[in-house]
Parts: sequence; structure tokens; C-alpha cells
Amino acid sequence: MKIAVVGSINMDMTVAADRIPTKGETVFGTDLKYVPGGKGANQAVAASKLGADTAMYGCVGDDAAGEQLLENLREQGVDESKIKIVPGVPTGIAVITVADKDNVIVVVPGANGRVDTDYVDSILDELLKSDMVLLQHEIPQETVEYVIGKCAAEGVPVVMNPAPARPVSQETVDKVSWITPNETEAAIIFGDRPIDEMLADYPNKLVVTLGSDGTAAADGETLLRVPARKSEVVDTTGAGDTFNAAFAVRCAAGDSLEDALHYANTAGGLSTEKYGAQGGMPTDAEVRRAMETE
Ligand code: RIB
Repeated sequence: MKIAVVGSINMDMTVAADRIPTKGETVFGTDLKYVPGGKGANQAVAASKLGADTAMYGCVGDDAAGEQLLENLREQGVDESKIKIVPGVPTGIAVITVADKDNVIVVVPGANGRVDTDYVDSILDELLKSDMVLLQHEIPQETVEYVIGKCAAEGVPVVMNPAPARPVSQETVDKVSWITPNETEAAIIFGDRPIDEMLADYPNKLVVTLGSDGTAAADGETLLRVPARKSEVVDTTGAGDTFNAAFAVRCAAGDSLEDALHYANTAGGLSTEKYGAQGGMPTDAEVRRAMETE
């Protein structure tokens, strides 16, 4: 099974603090770490760890961070051979504060902003050979829509994770196989209305992630609520990315919606039990073992 991710590649600068500072406040932090991140790269690493043949498409700068992130993808078994190194542009950076079993993130896109339609054209033949394409919102919207249009025309399924939040056109929603917003993103895309109403409008397409309350979706007959794994949370960064990758891998493998959501919730939960976006991403065997004991 071949999974492709078109998206962002960031160096995450993370600090742990006792609590998230309020506006205008200074708090002390500990544990400054530079770790691989970016919603796109995180999803690619998660898919690879779960056993999928995974390719990452995106851009990094010609700096030390870019080199380290390419090396990390190689080490994690992700095909990074088509990632473009953009001269004179910094690699994407995320500044992350981890506290209160949650986080706040500021992203500086850098080279991720150079993932344009010309780049997509240069990798299109290979991209369209994928069994599933994963997209997020840390590259230009025009590029996201372009990829979706090309995939829809060739019948390549797309899982679209609309994070960070921004509006999505109806045409885009219609063309993707799955769209996986959290509650905030869902309200921006589908209007501020009850989740069950949105799910009923988009069966077998919309999956709403509810954090510690798990996930919600509709299969055309019933509204599904699939609980989250009860995790010993260390760091939630990358949990959504792990969920999306796992969901895409299991959908591509032909699982039912409910089974794919159960597997993905477990994978996402496991990923929160270690520090860093990619630090806790589980293997397929680890997910299955955890599911047996849930
Ligand atoms: O989803 C988590 C990711 O969001 C982090 O790794 C950070 O890079 C930001 O893109």
C-alpha cells in the first residue's frame, strides 16, 4: 500500500512549562528541544511507522534544519527523494509550548510556503500512483486545492486534515474522500451548528476529532462515537497527525469506518505518551497490542 503526503516539514522548537502563559505574561520553561515536526512530515512518519510504503512531498530550506529533517525522514523509512530544497529560504519552524497536557503552537512556514503548483506538477506522475494522499493546511491553500483536483480527476482518494483552521470551499469538500477537522475547524468549514447535524450531512466523508472524547462520524446508517484511548498524556503534539495517518492507512487497507477510527484513536492516544510530535508514534504491532488490552 502506497501512502503519499503533500505538506509541511518543520523543525519544532519545544519547551515544557508548568502552564500555558496568559497574554502578556512571562513564565519559566524547561527542556528546550529541537525535534522534527510539521503536520505533513509527522503524518508521513506515522504512516511509515505503521507499516505503509510512504512518500513525503514538500519543501525545506538549504539550511541545517532542512538537512536534519531530511535525514530524519530517511531514518524513519519515508521516501524523501522528491522533497525540494529551496535555496535562500529558511526551513519551516514551529515554536511550541507544552503545558497542562496540551500545547500552543506558532508556525513560521518558511519553505513550506514554496510548495506551489509547479512543484506539484513536477511530482504529479508519482503522486497519482498512490493508494491514498494525505493533505493538511500548512502549505498554500491553492496548492492543496490543486492536488485535490488532480487526485479527484484520477480517482485517487484523499484524506484532508484541515489544520490549522481555515475555510474550505464546498467544491473541495465534495472532491475529497475524507475530511477530518477538530471541533473548531468543523465550525469554520461547516458552520457553527451541532456536530451530529454536520455528520448526517456528510456520511462516510466527515470525521470530527473530539480530543479526549474520541472521534465522531456517520456511516450512512448510524452516527458513530468512537472513544479515545485512556492515555498517560505527556505531550499531545502530533496526536492529531498520528490519528490522520493511521486513519488513512487503515482506510486504504479496506477497514470499515468504525474499525479504522478505533485503530486511529488508539494510535493517536499512544503518541501522546512520549515527548515530541514524532517521539511517541507507534508501530502497527504496538497499536494492535494496545487495542487488545483496551
Ligand atoms: O501537529 C503538530 C505540528 O504542528 C507540530 O509538529 C508543528 O510543527 C506544527 O506544524
